[in-house]
Amino acid sequence: MTDTDRGAVGSEYLTIALTKGRLADQTMELLARAGYTCEELGDKKSRKLIFTNEDQKLRFFLSKGPDVPTYVEYGAADIGVTGSDVIMEENRRVFEVLDLDFGKCRMCVAGPAEAGDLLRHHEMIRVASKYPQIAKDYFYNRKHQTVDIIKLNGSVELGPIVELADVIVDIVETGSTLHENGLMVLEEVCPISARMIVNQVSMSMKARRIREFIARVRDAVNMQ
Ligand code: PRP
Repeated sequence: MTDTDRGAVGSEYLTIALTKGRLADQTMELLARAGYTCEELGDKKSRKLIFTNEDQKLRFFLSKGPDVPTYVEYGAADIGVTGSDVIMEENRRVFEVLDLDFGKCRMCVAGPAEAGDLLRHHEMIRVASKYPQIAKDYFYNRKHQTVDIIKLNGSVELGPIVELADVIVDIVETGSTLHENGLMVLEEVCPISARMIVNQVSMSMKARRIREFIARVRDAVNMQ
């Protein structure tokens, strides 16, 4: 068995990795507008992990966001949908083919107002983040500032409050988590939105189906 025969890449199905939660719901709404559906996925009580549309030869599965690029790189899924934050952080060998224009938020440096001076003067600061690679790239390559990066797995806003870190690098959507914790956006790193990614082998082995899939989803995005 060669690499290209393994998993989804070798099958007659197009396999699509979705990000569990709201992003999966928004993705399925978009796909429905593009003419792709999966009735099984609508059953919220089901504990099934993989869902099939036999007529359209589509398979869907739900996974944690950071695992989506992994499934796609290894060809376990031909296509994946997750946030550009996750795609940047994971830095997998996949093709990013489409901005889906939902799941929009901003990657920011945030902290208490006083931390603004530490940033301006390029002080050696501590940065807490769920996104250590994005934080490292921002401070080292864009700002040329040496910092100490501390990886956290959630509730990152706690970092500056309990003095683990001076600032955080995190996603800001409504800004209410920052506001309710006495923190503010200090710098913007980049805008974030949901993206479609494709396995590099599938892109040529299943070129016709995948090109059509992308074109129909692109039309549905543009119709919004
Ligand atoms: C995300 C993010 C912020 C919050 C931002 O956390 O890490 O904490 O949402 O949203 P807001 O600007 O609308 O308040 P998430 O809910 O994913 O939980 P986590 O911090 O435990 O990862």
